[in-house]
Amino acid sequence: MDFAPYIRDIEDFPKPGVVFKDITPLLKDPKAFQKAGDALLGFTHNMQIDKVVGVDSRGFIFAPMLAEKLGAGFITVRKSGKLPYSTISESYDLEYGTGILEMHSDAIEKGDRVLVHDDVLATGGTAQAVCKLVEKLGGEVVQCNFLIELTFLNGAEKIRRYPKEVLLKY
Ligand code: PRP
Ligand code: HPA
Repeated sequence: MDFAPYIRDIEDFPKPGVVFKDITPLLKDPKAFQKAGDALLGFTHNMQIDKVVGVDSRGFIFAPMLAEKLGAGFITVRKSGKLPYSTISESYDLEYGTGILEMHSDAIEKGDRVLVHDDVLATGGTAQAVCKLVEKLGGEVVQCNFLIELTFLNGAEKIRRYPKEVLLKY
């Protein structure tokens, strides 16, 4: 299936000069939504995965489904101040700002094989921070997968150490 028709460009969002890839038309279409989930799952062909990490907030759309289908646990990485238990944190830069990401300190066991999922790979700051959080707890990132990669922002460079799969590249 060609997913490109379901991705909408929004100019100057959330800041002037940014052309934002809006995935909500894809989510709204039952068939495109289902096929996109199937395709993301297909990227993990027969890999043993213990935990799927979803990134606040749009990473939470597909990551729980992937975890459920893979028989893995679902872990949330959240923007700072949202997680209630003890946390580890990483600061990061993204296309239109900076921030701090947190994960519960007991989210990953040593040796866990981890799939990291997010909707968009842009500058890679977010994904890199998430992989660092996983590794701080002794997990192994076995794949990062995304719906969309904005290749012109070179995010792949920041996560070149990890296998990467993407549905749509711009
Ligand atoms: C977006 C997107 C990724 C990140 C990618 O999230 O969902 O998480 O930016 O950017 P990067 O590769 O430059 O780090 P955002 O921080 O806008 O949060 P949201 O999902 O809550 O909208
Ligand atoms: N679209 C959606 N999310 C994003 C983008 C974008 O263009 N850039 C960084 N995160």
